[in-house]
Amino acid sequence: MAKKDSYPKALKHGEIRKIFENIFFVTGTTAMKAPAPMKFSRNMTIIREGEDLVLVNSVRLGEAGLAQLETLGKIRHVVRLAGFHGMDDPFYKNRYKAKVWSVNASYTTGFDDPPKPQDIYFDADVIIDDSTPLPLANSTLYEFKTSTPGEALLHLQANNGVVISGDCLQNWSEADKYFSWFSKIMMKKKGFIKPHNIGPGWLKIAAPEYQEIVNILELDFEHVLPAHGKPVIGGAKESYRPVINEKLV
Ligand SMILES: [Fe+2]
Repeated sequence: MAKKDSYPKALKHGEIRKIFENIFFVTGTTAMKAPAPMKFSRNMTIIREGEDLVLVNSVRLGEAGLAQLETLGKIRHVVRLAGFHGMDDPFYKNRYKAKVWSVNASYTTGFDDPPKPQDIYFDADVIIDDSTPLPLANSTLYEFKTSTPGEALLHLQANNGVVISGDCLQNWSEADKYFSWFSKIMMKKKGFIKPHNIGPGWLKIAAPEYQEIVNILELDFEHVLPAHGKPVIGGAKESYRPVINEKLV
């Protein structure tokens, strides 16, 4: 049994499952206190490079989940694609000495822009942009340069193109078992529960320029592994094309 620590505790999550060779996916929970108490699902994607693991959109797992993760390889890197995520990155850095790579976004408990110094709880090891050599072969970062806080997609060339997304491309076709009843009602009402969606909260708060969203369609990809909702396996670019072509911003 690991000693207690001061990081956000592990919440309910599922099994780690294999999506492609060396790409794995697990669904867990987010718990928010503000602006209202909410619980809903979020996903971590795990990429194996040789013996090393890269965790994207990290989610703290319970001890049994961590044991399963450790059987896949050595936890070496954490990549943060969404400025609204990252609460579990300090845990993985502390427990596994993982190197943390983050988009340009403070780790803050508040909503102020710029954040109050006392709300900042962590600093990444590397701030990434689309010119940063990543700890993954055959991959690139698609950075939303007009998003505040920062946001990016991770594009992997393998398997005819896989995009891993944070809050931008979502696929909550249903409010799954990780949602609290209040979140189910609220998030349906606010337009979050739709397949092949662009995150409404991110659009509103991070306010990216529309052209940066349209330019996603210039990437070659067949699949999307989102931080929210189910993986989109096959035909993903065509599935997202309608929502991207709507003028949303
Ligand atoms: Fe999110």
